[in-house]
Amino acid sequence: MLKIKNLRRLLPALAFALLPGMATAQQAIATGKMLGNTCASCHGTHGKSFDEYMPSLAGIDRQQLIRSMTDYREDRRVSVVMNRIAKGYNDAEIAAVADYFSKIK
Ligand code: HEC
Repeated sequence: MLKIKNLRRLLPALAFALLPGMATAQQAIATGKMLGNTCASCHGTHGKSFDEYMPSLAGIDRQQLIRSMTDYREDRRVSVVMNRIAKGYNDAEIAAVADYFSKIK
Protein backbone atom coordinates (compact mmCIF):
# COMPACT_ATOMS: atom_id res chain seq x y z
CA MET A 1 0.00 0.00 0.00
CA LEU A 2 1.14 3.54 -0.73
CA LYS A 3 1.96 5.34 2.50
CA ILE A 4 1.09 9.03 3.01
CA LYS A 5 4.78 9.77 3.57
CA ASN A 6 5.71 8.33 0.17
CA LEU A 7 2.83 10.11 -1.49
CA ARG A 8 4.00 13.41 -0.08
CA ARG A 9 7.45 12.75 -1.50
CA LEU A 10 5.94 12.20 -4.93
CA LEU A 11 3.90 15.39 -4.97
CA PRO A 12 6.62 17.83 -6.08
CA ALA A 13 7.58 15.50 -8.93
CA LEU A 14 3.93 15.18 -9.89
CA ALA A 15 3.40 18.94 -9.78
CA PHE A 16 6.47 19.37 -11.92
CA ALA A 17 5.30 16.82 -14.48
CA LEU A 18 2.05 18.70 -14.81
CA LEU A 19 3.66 22.09 -15.44
CA PRO A 20 2.81 23.17 -18.96
CA GLY A 21 5.74 23.79 -21.26
CA MET A 22 8.12 21.63 -19.24
CA ALA A 23 7.49 18.38 -20.97
CA THR A 24 10.82 16.59 -21.12
CA ALA A 25 13.19 15.35 -18.43
CA GLN A 26 16.02 17.13 -20.18
CA GLN A 27 14.24 20.45 -19.83
CA ALA A 28 13.67 19.68 -16.14
CA ILE A 29 17.40 19.17 -15.60
CA ALA A 30 18.23 22.35 -17.53
CA THR A 31 15.70 24.26 -15.41
CA GLY A 32 17.18 22.96 -12.14
CA LYS A 33 20.68 23.95 -13.20
CA MET A 34 19.56 27.33 -14.51
CA LEU A 35 17.62 28.16 -11.32
CA GLY A 36 20.46 26.72 -9.24
CA ASN A 37 22.88 29.13 -10.87
CA THR A 38 21.00 32.02 -9.27
CA CYS A 39 22.20 30.72 -5.88
CA ALA A 40 25.88 30.80 -6.91
CA SER A 41 26.63 34.39 -5.91
CA CYS A 42 26.18 33.43 -2.26
CA HIS A 43 26.43 29.63 -2.05
CA GLY A 44 29.28 29.29 -4.56
CA THR A 45 29.57 27.96 -8.12
CA HIS A 46 27.70 24.64 -8.37
CA GLY A 47 26.72 25.10 -4.72
CA LYS A 48 30.29 24.70 -3.46
CA SER A 49 30.74 27.36 -0.82
CA PHE A 50 33.89 29.46 -0.76
CA ASP A 51 33.15 30.88 2.69
CA GLU A 52 33.01 29.00 5.99
CA TYR A 53 29.92 30.98 7.04
CA MET A 54 27.94 30.10 3.93
CA PRO A 55 26.39 26.63 3.73
CA SER A 56 27.28 24.56 0.66
CA LEU A 57 24.34 23.25 -1.36
CA ALA A 58 26.36 20.74 -3.39
CA GLY A 59 25.43 17.19 -2.40
CA ILE A 60 22.74 18.39 0.01
CA ASP A 61 20.00 15.90 0.83
CA ARG A 62 17.16 16.51 -1.64
CA GLN A 63 14.42 16.48 1.02
CA GLN A 64 16.42 18.77 3.30
CA LEU A 65 16.74 21.39 0.57
CA ILE A 66 13.02 21.17 -0.25
CA ARG A 67 12.13 21.49 3.44
CA SER A 68 14.49 24.44 4.04
CA MET A 69 13.27 26.32 0.96
CA THR A 70 9.57 25.82 1.75
CA ASP A 71 10.16 26.76 5.41
CA TYR A 72 11.88 29.97 4.27
CA ARG A 73 9.11 30.67 1.76
CA GLU A 74 6.33 30.19 4.33
CA ASP A 75 8.32 32.15 6.98
CA ARG A 76 8.53 29.12 9.29
CA ARG A 77 12.29 29.66 9.31
CA VAL A 78 13.80 33.12 9.45
CA SER A 79 16.84 34.32 7.55
CA VAL A 80 18.12 37.74 6.53
CA VAL A 81 17.95 36.90 2.82
CA MET A 82 16.54 33.40 2.23
CA ASN A 83 12.89 34.29 2.98
CA ARG A 84 12.66 36.77 0.14
CA ILE A 85 14.64 34.53 -2.21
CA ALA A 86 12.50 31.45 -1.51
CA LYS A 87 9.29 33.40 -2.24
CA GLY A 88 10.35 33.54 -5.89
CA TYR A 89 10.17 29.73 -6.30
CA ASN A 90 7.14 27.46 -6.64
CA ASP A 91 7.13 23.82 -5.50
CA ALA A 92 8.12 22.46 -8.90
CA GLU A 93 11.04 24.88 -9.19
CA ILE A 94 12.25 24.04 -5.68
CA ALA A 95 12.08 20.33 -6.58
CA ALA A 96 14.10 20.99 -9.76
CA VAL A 97 16.73 22.94 -7.81
CA ALA A 98 16.84 20.16 -5.18
CA ASP A 99 17.37 17.55 -7.91
CA TYR A 100 20.21 19.61 -9.32
CA PHE A 101 22.11 20.28 -6.07
CA SER A 102 21.55 16.85 -4.51
CA LYS A 103 23.22 15.17 -7.53
CA ILE A 104 26.42 17.24 -7.36
CA LYS A 105 29.31 15.32 -5.81
C1 HEC B 1 22.05 36.83 -1.34
C2 HEC B 1 22.69 35.61 -0.90
C3 HEC B 1 21.95 34.30 -1.09
C4 HEC B 1 21.42 33.79 -2.24
C5 HEC B 1 21.38 34.41 -3.63
C6 HEC B 1 20.91 32.46 -1.89
N1 HEC B 1 21.12 32.20 -0.56
FE1 HEC B 1 20.60 30.50 0.44
N2 HEC B 1 21.41 31.25 2.16
C7 HEC B 1 22.00 32.48 2.27
C8 HEC B 1 22.47 32.67 3.64
C9 HEC B 1 23.18 33.89 4.19
C10 HEC B 1 22.12 31.49 4.33
C11 HEC B 1 22.46 31.20 5.79
C12 HEC B 1 21.31 30.87 6.65
C13 HEC B 1 20.53 32.00 7.25
O1 HEC B 1 20.69 33.17 6.94
O2 HEC B 1 19.66 31.65 8.08
C14 HEC B 1 21.45 30.62 3.37
C15 HEC B 1 20.94 29.36 3.67
C16 HEC B 1 20.35 28.51 2.75
C17 HEC B 1 19.87 27.18 3.04
C18 HEC B 1 19.91 26.48 4.38
C19 HEC B 1 21.09 25.56 4.42
C20 HEC B 1 21.16 24.71 5.66
O3 HEC B 1 22.01 23.81 5.68
O4 HEC B 1 20.39 24.90 6.60
C21 HEC B 1 19.37 26.67 1.89
C22 HEC B 1 18.77 25.29 1.67
C23 HEC B 1 19.56 27.67 0.87
N3 HEC B 1 20.14 28.77 1.43
C24 HEC B 1 19.19 27.50 -0.43
C25 HEC B 1 19.35 28.46 -1.44
C26 HEC B 1 18.96 28.28 -2.81
C27 HEC B 1 18.35 26.99 -3.37
C28 HEC B 1 19.25 29.43 -3.46
C29 HEC B 1 18.98 29.76 -4.90
C30 HEC B 1 17.66 29.55 -5.38
C31 HEC B 1 19.84 30.34 -2.49
N4 HEC B 1 19.88 29.72 -1.27
C32 HEC B 1 20.28 31.62 -2.78
C33 HEC B 1 22.18 33.41 1.27
C34 HEC B 1 21.76 33.29 -0.04
